Amino acid sequence: MQTLLELLRKGEDFLRKKGIEKPRLEAQLIFAHILKMSRIELFMHEQKPLTSEETAALREALLQRAAGKPTAYILSEKYFYGRPFFVSPNVLIPRPETEELVELALQQNLAGKNILDLCCGSGCIGITLALETPLAVIDFSDISAPALEITKKNFEFLITQQEKVPKSHFIQSDLLDTIVTQRKNYYDMVISNPPYVLPEEYEKLDPEVRDHEPAIALVVHNPVAFFSTMFARSFAVLHSGGTLLIETSPNLIELQQLLLKEMGFTDVHYFADLAGKNRFLKGVKP
Ligand SMILES: C[S@@+](CC[C@H](N)C(=O)[O-])C[C@H]1O[C@@H](n2cnc3c(N)ncnc32)[C@H](O)[C@@H]1O
Repeated sequence: MQTLLELLRKGEDFLRKKGIEKPRLEAQLIFAHILKMSRIELFMHEQKPLTSEETAALREALLQRAAGKPTAYILSEKYFYGRPFFVSPNVLIPRPETEELVELALQQNLAGKNILDLCCGSGCIGITLALETPLAVIDFSDISAPALEITKKNFEFLITQQEKVPKSHFIQSDLLDTIVTQRKNYYDMVISNPPYVLPEEYEKLDPEVRDHEPAIALVVHNPVAFFSTMFARSFAVLHSGGTLLIETSPNLIELQQLLLKEMGFTDVHYFADLAGKNRFLKGVKP
């Protein structure tokens, strides 16, 4: 029987040889998850002999990682804003830029407000807002039924044990098509990280992203049609003074600013992310 430390070293070497970046960290994350220990506990138990079941599970996870499967999908978990979110290949793995979108939203006083997380995926944006601020309503909408199931699962795990649970609905819709008439002038904020990769950019994406994350979460095939619909329906469901706040691509931001102004939004501004890329766009319904 091999010890935890022996296998951890072998796992790290294996990932390094397969060209995985940060092989030590990745091996530690995989070992910690499979052995149900924290990363510190791995070192407190480094002489522990591993059972054949544990060794087989570790081997399988390391093989998947070496084949390019993102660690978050192997672990079924990604931390966002300091909290663990369940993820599967049906949802985008939450990104650090999206934490900056949440930061921007939190600069407004959202206490007691009605918020919609549009294109919610794992639900990381809306759930985080609800955990950071006592909202009145947090609704979630996505076109993908399996993604909405994951939003619900994260909501139940992270929010329902809280003292105050905001009202919430999980709405399957194509850019709000099923609810736009019922929710007119209802939200104080529509926040969204929609798909924003152009088809020609998608082909050049890192295969780890392109081959494993859902294309529907990434690619926008007809940006004018998609964002015209998204902005017009967001305008309808916002009440006067409400804000639309989105994450986007620097390549789309000019088009989107024009569309927002055409729809009647005022106070249209964009903001850069920490890497200096124009990444976030805001408009207010007058
Ligand atoms: C970039 S992912 C964002 C997921 C999550 N909000 C996040 O930030 O990690 C975009 C999401 O938009 C959803 N989506 C794509 N097209 C849509 C549409 N027409 N209507 C509603 N949701 C859509 C996808 O299913 C996906 O969950």
